[in-house]
Amino acid sequence: MSAQNFFARMTAPKITARKGGDPIVCLTAYDAPTAALLDDHCDLLLVGDSVGMVVHGLTTTVGVTLDMMIMHGQAVMRGSKTALVVVDLPFGSYEDSPETAFRNASRVMMETGCQAVKIESGSYAAQTVSYLVERGIPVMSHVGLRPQSMNVLGGFRARGRTASIADEIIENAIAAAEAGSFAVVVEGVSEELADRVTKAVNIPTIGIGASAGCDGQILVTPDMLGMFDRVPKFVKKYGAMSDLIETAAKDYAAEVKARTFPSDDYTYKFKK
Ligand code: KIV
Repeated sequence: MSAQNFFARMTAPKITARKGGDPIVCLTAYDAPTAALLDDHCDLLLVGDSVGMVVHGLTTTVGVTLDMMIMHGQAVMRGSKTALVVVDLPFGSYEDSPETAFRNASRVMMETGCQAVKIESGSYAAQTVSYLVERGIPVMSHVGLRPQSMNVLGGFRARGRTASIADEIIENAIAAAEAGSFAVVVEGVSEELADRVTKAVNIPTIGIGASAGCDGQILVTPDMLGMFDRVPKFVKKYGAMSDLIETAAKDYAAEVKARTFPSDDYTYKFKK
């Protein structure tokens, strides 16, 4: 990564300064060519551990490893030039102690060149966030529906249906902000609760399945591109990627079988 590249990028403090201002545009990215296409349109690219589900075919994010996150983080850094790149710390890489979190987060930053990490914040997380931030690692937190905890939560259902859980989500967001997070993802909660979280914290809230009143929005890119038939209720499909791929593969197969591909236009003919 060149020094010039580094200074062209969005920074974590600039994202924080957008609280209550222009909406912050975020998408997930996992590979270099897609990151290059998204870069001009996004303030922040998240190398989410959703990569396990939408790229590697896992049923949850629990099986995602640090090495997987580093490999995809490197690719996204190569493809992008201006967006802030945030890499998720996967399940098992940060929960047991701030020291473990620092060891793994610093490895992610050193080996990918990304500028921040994201952690899913339970009540244990505030100490870890401040430990990382004090040592030079910007942290984005994640409250509400926390996919890494789906075995405890019992699935991917929206969170905060009872007053006590709603209060706990707000407390987690406040703790994450007070510990020094530069932004907080709010996932899978009612519009009303998302708006309460946005009012309660002095850092930007990035909504996914939350509220248009959040300070920014994020979606899982293959979901919004229309790669999958079944997506959560909150996903708007902005493209029809699966149709495009199926049609192209079908046309290609037909031409290969008919020996009409490769035609003259696609073959080398050396002059004798
Ligand atoms: O892993 C991911 O893609 C995420 C987003 C859903 C915010 O955490």
